[in-house]
Amino acid sequence: MDKLVIKGGKRLKGEVAVSGSKNALLPIMAATLLTDEPCRIKGVPKLRDTMTMIKILRSLGKAVEFRDADILVKSTKRVSTVADYKLVSTMRASFCVLGPLLAKYKKCKVSLPGGCVIGLRPVDLHLKGIKALNARIDIEGGYVKVSAARLLGNHIYLGGSFGSSVLATANIMMAATFAQGVTEIESAACEPEIVDLARFLIKMGAKIKGYGTPLIQIKGLKHLHGAEHSIIPDRIEAGTFMIAALITRGEIKLKNVSWQHFGAVLDKLKEMGAGIYKKDKAITIKFNGPLKSGNITTLPYPGFPTDMQAQMMSLMSITQGVSIITEKVYPDRFMHIAELNRMGAHIQRQGPHAIISGVRQLSGADVMASDLRASASLILAGLAAEGRTSVSRIYHLERGYDKLDEKLIMLGADIHREKE
Ligand code: UD1
Repeated sequence: MDKLVIKGGKRLKGEVAVSGSKNALLPIMAATLLTDEPCRIKGVPKLRDTMTMIKILRSLGKAVEFRDADILVKSTKRVSTVADYKLVSTMRASFCVLGPLLAKYKKCKVSLPGGCVIGLRPVDLHLKGIKALNARIDIEGGYVKVSAARLLGNHIYLGGSFGSSVLATANIMMAATFAQGVTEIESAACEPEIVDLARFLIKMGAKIKGYGTPLIQIKGLKHLHGAEHSIIPDRIEAGTFMIAALITRGEIKLKNVSWQHFGAVLDKLKEMGAGIYKKDKAITIKFNGPLKSGNITTLPYPGFPTDMQAQMMSLMSITQGVSIITEKVYPDRFMHIAELNRMGAHIQRQGPHAIISGVRQLSGADVMASDLRASASLILAGLAAEGRTSVSRIYHLERGYDKLDEKLIMLGADIHREKE
């Protein structure tokens, strides 16, 4: 297993191209199950999660080729409708094969994903939506077994205690493409990744309206065809580079971004004093002098994304004054606090709030990554810290960042890999 060793204090400067979005890609790969015709997906990031989804599609009978940044999915004579525990337990997003499998084959058996380090992460909203489409659900031996003689369109309220759900919206949207009549999803997730999925489904022939708003309408059909699609840029990877520029007092130009996807993040960074310059499909982030403290609350899109919370905490930990982060999507997503404190940060947790008293300087330490975004936050902290930081368990990082260390090195960071 590798760890990343960082010598902090280098000012990052230069240009970097942002990869395709992991969270847009995974449900779109699952959507290829809705057709027997070939589908091509372009701009695919090389991630561990991409490889896991390829394994899942293969286990369900698809032939998948992944060359350069292109994925080609074709059908074979073999079809399986069982998504195995071994694969689903390694990546929660694999649960979104449930919607397309049910739609296409009217039955499937998908392992329940279980909890993870950032919280309980139930799937009740997915099941509520599926049931409303006239499916029968049985939970047996850790699997959800669903079947329906005929899927029927319905009006489904999909909001939960923590707001809308991205993957439940994806699952129901995909299941409803073959449900008789019209399905309306109220309190649907509005994330750009849902819009990208809707656009892919529409290319396959689906009739969907209202995507990107809390009310999505899907008119059920009997058949979808193959399609070709380019994945949107990864707004979380881009946001991570924005913090890298600021935390190292540098300047980074991000290429291949959709700046419309960054509302709350750009607004907050601007409020804290960052220099932000947009041009066509690029954004430049520049450290323009000491930043001001700020408060953020994570919320479903277009609010501040929970997937940027840990990285923002690293920045706030060396921003003068007191900043408060309120985590409203995953109230327990704070595993990184203890590690940042080991690097000299002053962060106190009170329930869903983190109170961050900015320190002048972090100091390098041996730290351990607990999840994907926490890994990124520790690397960012290491870039700013005095001395040597080693981040172990970086396999979490490889789940969702396409060559992050190589890209940071190109921007001037002093990072190398070592065996743990
Ligand atoms: C997706 C993203 C993940 C991101 C999260 C929130 C993918 C592959 N992953 O995960 O990176 O952190 O959105 O932006 O796109 N909930 C329920 N019941 C459910 C489903 C969810 O209570 O049935 C809760 C969750 O526990 C959480 C909140 O709803 O508190 C939002 O979760 P959700 O949007 O479903 O996250 P994912 O789609 O799993």
